[in-house]
Amino acid sequence: MGLSSLEIITFRNLHSVNIKPNAELNLLIGENAAGKTSFLEAIFYLSYGRSFRYSQTKHLISHDEEYFRLICNLDDNKTRIGLEKSYKNQLIRVNKQAVSRISELSTLLPVLILHPDSHQLISSGPENRRQFMDWGVFHVEHQFIISWKKYKKALSQRNASLRMKQDDKLCSLWDIELIEHASIIEKYRLKYLDDIKIIINDLSKELFPDHKIELIYKKGWPDDIEYKDHLKSNLYKDKEKGYTQSGPHRADIKINVNGYPAQSSISRGQQKKLVTLLKIAQLTLFSKISERRCILLFDDLPAELDRDNQDKIMSILSKLNIQLFITAIELNQINTGYWQNHKVFHVEHGVISGI
Ligand SMILES: Nc1ncnc2c1ncn2[C@@H]1O[C@H](COP(=O)(O)OP(=O)(O)OP(=O)(O)O)[C@@H](O)[C@H]1O
Ligand SMILES: [Mg+2]
Repeated sequence: MGLSSLEIITFRNLHSVNIKPNAELNLLIGENAAGKTSFLEAIFYLSYGRSFRYSQTKHLISHDEEYFRLICNLDDNKTRIGLEKSYKNQLIRVNKQAVSRISELSTLLPVLILHPDSHQLISSGPENRRQFMDWGVFHVEHQFIISWKKYKKALSQRNASLRMKQDDKLCSLWDIELIEHASIIEKYRLKYLDDIKIIINDLSKELFPDHKIELIYKKGWPDDIEYKDHLKSNLYKDKEKGYTQSGPHRADIKINVNGYPAQSSISRGQQKKLVTLLKIAQLTLFSKISERRCILLFDDLPAELDRDNQDKIMSILSKLNIQLFITAIELNQINTGYWQNHKVFHVEHGVISGI
């Protein structure tokens, strides 16, 4: 769903913000340190219960304050979410009912982000790529989270046994549960990647016309062996390390461009464009299978892409059924021509006003 209103209280340098965004396109314009990224961070927090900047939650509370509060109404005209985070507690309410799991908010308010460090999806370790894939699977396959939680529970039990150097039988007790859920997780992930690859191919024609982009799933253990056999034959190595070294929690997506690893073969700008393409593919797939709308937060768009690529991306984004928030330093850096209407918000020293 999109946001029809948003209130932010004592979050970073945003002391009291109350806005009614446009259903489609919103621009947040302001100088360095005005509070633009903090604004996107507040929306991101409402969906993920954490920041996208590597930051402890306590740093999100405005200095010298005890808590932050985020309140929003969704554009389904019936859902109101309230979240209050203090140093010790977090309270979440949906339509005045207490909610204990942040995953409920993620379902109500699906959010994706592109920011200046997003190229790390390609250049950094596998965790980013697993998160990318699992965001999609989570929103498509509602069984996924159940299997994932069971897998994680069995994994932590097995790891505890390994750490305590219990005998082989006790350590392997968890294997059945691990194997069962590993196969469900793999099935869902492969299906999601198959679906998204079709959209990536389509988008590549426009954004990467001279490149062949490939996504190859690496399941977290060698291809030529079954998981159960691999767990068995590696038990002594796992015991030595004190944790389970293989499984879907170690999966990865190999991203190749023209047959070479994207990590080392394309420029930083191309990596940024490729990550943008991947996220747009996710949004497109999401819109196809869900009745809900997704929010895209695009931090510092002009700094990310050259004019020609920006233009192509704006044209693609304008055709998607999403709510978009873009930040920039100057208004004339953004081409809004593809939209019928939009709203501009001016951000200055933590104060946000509509223009
Ligand atoms: N917990 C906090 N309390 C108060 N202010 C904070 C807190 N955390 C960060 N800030 C300040 O908030 C300000 C806004 O930061 P933000 O990253 O949102 O700016 P920005 O508008 O995105 O700037 P840029 O254009 O440089 O990216 C900064 O001056 C930062 O130091
Ligand atoms: Mg910023």
